[in-house]
Amino acid sequence: MERKRTPVILDGDPGHDDAIMITMANGSSLFDIKLLSSVNGNQTIEKTTLNMLKIANLLSIDAPVAKGAIRPMKSPVIPAGNWHGKSGLDGYRLSKGDKKIADKPSYEMMYDILSKSDEQVIIIATGPLTNLGILLSVHPDIKDKIKLISIMGGGILHGNWNPASEYNILVDPEAAKIVFDSGIKILVAPLDATEKAIIKPSDFPKIKEVNNHVSDVVLAWLKFFYKHPMEIGYEGAPVHDPLAFLAISHPEIFRIEKMKIDVELHGKYTRGALVYDLRYSREEDFNSEVLMDIDRERYVDLLIEYLHFYDR
Ligand code: BDR
Ligand code: CA
Repeated sequence: MERKRTPVILDGDPGHDDAIMITMANGSSLFDIKLLSSVNGNQTIEKTTLNMLKIANLLSIDAPVAKGAIRPMKSPVIPAGNWHGKSGLDGYRLSKGDKKIADKPSYEMMYDILSKSDEQVIIIATGPLTNLGILLSVHPDIKDKIKLISIMGGGILHGNWNPASEYNILVDPEAAKIVFDSGIKILVAPLDATEKAIIKPSDFPKIKEVNNHVSDVVLAWLKFFYKHPMEIGYEGAPVHDPLAFLAISHPEIFRIEKMKIDVELHGKYTRGALVYDLRYSREEDFNSEVLMDIDRERYVDLLIEYLHFYDR
């Protein structure tokens, strides 16, 4: 008997690791994907939306694709072109297929889906949190329909775009603050775990062996995506975003800590940093479950396992 699938909204800025997150989440068959939503981040909104259409076409995902926020709630745009290339998803030329972009913006599509759903919906967010910030500001009543929000974002002990701040949170700290302060259950995949989620060139032969159309594309994405990090000293590509999905499907591969997290909005050196408060120890004080470490070998195995979904 097929397991009941949980409704999910996938919101991100594809982006190689966003694309691999969607590939794994779809391959897991755990979810009923209700919406693919783009946001400005790794590239302009036009490019991340086009990439979302291409991913939906590659993976035959029926869900609508909605175009999200063109810019952060208050900050200027920060492009991340040196990581993801000119298209935001360089490495393999894909067709966008026939699907049209939804006629409402992401936050309105999210609102419609959430309000019509009979059960609570999971949201996995792997880009700047602008769409969710807008959704929760414009429709605060919708919170009860959200089961949890699983985020790739932030760093507890260090940043990546600057010493204190990680890219997704730095791009739109105001939106991130709305999400962290919402009272909705939050899972966080920060750099502390995602920078250990390295796919190394020595993993490539295993991916090649999967040998289906989707694994070939993922390998081509990884072969582009590992170049920049290797130039700056990584052992491969830190493939961050799938951890926001694996936090739900395979929590046992992580060390997880509960924390009270605030988002710094003002500091000269610390805007966009996550501030964690270790003084709290009562369950009701925590607002986040945070991935602090990962079993990397299991991560690679799960990537391979989910790529085999596309054998048929
Ligand atoms: C995050 O920034 C983006 O470039 C990646 O897609 C990931 O979501 C890592 O800081
Ligand atoms: Ca991303």
